Amino acid sequence: MLTFAHLYLCADKKLTNIRRRLSQKPFIEKSTIPLNMLLKRICWVFTLLITTSTALLAGPTKEAGKDLFTANCASCHAKDMKTASTGPALGGVEERWADYPRTDLYSWVRNSQALIASGHPRATELWAKYKPTIMNSFSGLTDEQIESIIMYINDPGGKPVVDAGTETGSAKKESGIPWLFIGLALVLLLLAFALMRIVNNLQNVSRVRDGQEPVEKTLGEILSTKGAIAFFVFALVLIFGYKTVDNAINMGREQGYQPDQPIAFSHKIHAGINKIDCQYCHDTARRSKHASVPATNTCMNCHAAIKSGTITGTKEITKIYASIGYDPLTNRYIDGYDSWSEKQIEELFKKWIGQEYITANSLTALDDAGKSVVETQWDGIVEALRDDNNGKIQGPIEWVKIHNLPDHVYFNHSQHVSVGKIECQKCHGDIQEMDVVSQYATLGMGWCISCHSQTEVQFKDNPFYSQYNEEYIKYHKKQVAKPESEMDKVFVEDIGGLECQKCHY
Ligand code: HEC
Ligand code: HEC
Ligand code: HEC
Ligand code: HEC
Ligand code: HEC
Ligand code: HEC
Repeated sequence: MLTFAHLYLCADKKLTNIRRRLSQKPFIEKSTIPLNMLLKRICWVFTLLITTSTALLAGPTKEAGKDLFTANCASCHAKDMKTASTGPALGGVEERWADYPRTDLYSWVRNSQALIASGHPRATELWAKYKPTIMNSFSGLTDEQIESIIMYINDPGGKPVVDAGTETGSAKKESGIPWLFIGLALVLLLLAFALMRIVNNLQNVSRVRDGQEPVEKTLGEILSTKGAIAFFVFALVLIFGYKTVDNAINMGREQGYQPDQPIAFSHKIHAGINKIDCQYCHDTARRSKHASVPATNTCMNCHAAIKSGTITGTKEITKIYASIGYDPLTNRYIDGYDSWSEKQIEELFKKWIGQEYITANSLTALDDAGKSVVETQWDGIVEALRDDNNGKIQGPIEWVKIHNLPDHVYFNHSQHVSVGKIECQKCHGDIQEMDVVSQYATLGMGWCISCHSQTEVQFKDNPFYSQYNEEYIKYHKKQVAKPESEMDKVFVEDIGGLECQKCHY
């Protein structure tokens, strides 16, 4: 910054000098710098600017802290920062050292025994509790690296990714206001403005040399030059372009997406309260790529008999009948239902709804309230089932698809459910608690990857792997470049779970 101000003043001074030289007798001003030096300095300022801004962006980070912690500290300090292992739980360590200068904490990490020997109160307190276990010395760690580790200790990112179903870290970074970037943008803007002034002054220098009058531009004039306008247009295009691409990437994979469905089908009532197995309805999950949504026939296995719900009465279940062509009055499937007119369908189901209303309320005929119930329920059926293309009520129920991976991704349910032995809930959350399904995981690439690097392959009692003999398994165990202690585990990443072509067509 200082250099910049200096440069700025130099250009100004040079101009004044030249002016003076022209107006008075020529004399040499020692403190001015030659023109080419000035240009060199501009280059230099840019280099400085770039290095300082990268330094600004580097700094201690939680990500770096995580790596450092895993490599150096995790063998003795638990990763959840809450349970004691060989060493104490590190959560809240900052507060425990708050009474001492920050450098004491650095000294502890670099050489705890030295700090204990010096009689430091916190260090001796720790030693009294944990001796004779000695913490390793990490004399090679810089202040910045230790700060990174502390950042990670303060926020280890909650539960393991597999359970949370979210991308750790990256998801967090996206939220909130990016102050760093706003600050950087402001600094750059200021510099750009100052540079414009310098360029203007340099132009004036040469103008004056050529015997012309210098031109002093006002702020307004500078901002309305072609260059400045082009710059603003470019910046706008960049910002909007980025936003558009960002939104496009997020399209169709919204975490928490919870659309209304044509029938108020409740997983809580079916999979939760009535404990119907997920695979009773999503039976293809086990054996094929898709865990398709059940056909109306599956609903009829039970709803041929269960004709009215405790909560919704005839309102929702009648939609099943109107879709598939089942007459609940006679308990028969309707012959030639596909060619029925809407009038016929309306007559049948209004009669059914009305009759159920009369029985439920112990009446002999429909009252006014009953008539309006019949009308609204029929309207609901039409709204839920009418096909936009052919206007028909008959035909399959059009469930709104919730989970949606982009076309370039290959995902296979049976690989995960049957071979990987992963519970539906790991990826879909507690569906059995949901009245309306909502998307639990991000379905982003980071989500897939982090599970693949944390989940073990299930070789044991697994028919899929029965064809592979011990040698195959041993081979893969050897592939694992992990410390001796973890040699008996094979993670999905070790069998190629991070290879691009496994997930991308
Ligand atoms: C060999 C096991 C071991 C390793 C590796 C280790 N520590 Fe420790 N750490 C301990 C023990 C044991 C103590 C308790 C004091 C003692 O006995 O020296 C401790 C105490 C601490 C304390 C003080 C905690 C408090 O409540 O005040 C901090 C901070 C700490 N360790 C940080 C680290 C960091 C950071 C790393 C990695 C760079 C690390 N430790 C690696 C064993 C270890
Ligand atoms: C009685 C049948 C039935 C049972 C049992 C059932 N589901 Fe469903 N499931 C459906 C229907 C119908 C839909 C489509 C409507 C909806 O989204 O609510 C659906 C939708 C879903 C979806 C969203 C599909 C999409 O569009 O992306 C998921 C995920 C799902 N079910 C998972 C489960 C899990 C996990 C279980 C077991 C805990 C389960 N289901 C049990 C019938 C069932
Ligand atoms: C294995 C049996 C079974 C299957 C299959 C089944 N249901 Fe159900 N359904 C039930 C039971 C049991 C109830 C609870 C009835 C009650 O409310 O007492 C119920 C209730 C309902 C209700 C009314 C909820 C209320 O309380 O108002 C609706 C709507 C419903 N089911 C829709 C469906 C749909 C749509 C399908 C097909 C995707 C389906 N069901 C498949 C057993 C089943
Ligand atoms: C490893 C994670 C994972 C597991 C385990 C899993 N699913 Fe899925 N599920 C997904 C993903 C990812 C999608 C989106 C697939 C797509 O868009 O192609 C999905 C989509 C679905 C759908 C929408 C239809 C489809 O196939 O696109 C249903 C229904 C569903 N899952 C049900 C289940 C059930 C039931 C189970 C347990 C038997 C289960 N899932 C286990 C990740 C998983
Ligand atoms: C909850 C953990 C989990 C999540 C989330 C998950 N997977 Fe997997 N995945 C597994 C496991 C476990 C296996 C290993 C199954 C086996 O033994 O072959 C696997 C295997 C695979 C394979 C086969 C790899 C091979 O080497 O044969 C592909 C492809 C795959 N997953 C794609 C995906 C995609 C795409 C996503 C995200 C949309 C995803 N997975 C999300 C756990 C997960
Ligand atoms: C375990 C499965 C998996 C593996 C392995 C994988 N991807 Fe992906 N990738 C995905 C999923 C899922 C998405 C879709 C994410 C979304 O919808 O945003 C994706 C999206 C992408 C995209 C589109 C940008 C985006 O964020 O949508 C690119 C580019 C990409 N992957 C490149 C790669 C490359 C290169 C590799 C190999 C180093 C790779 N992927 C490995 C699952 C995987």
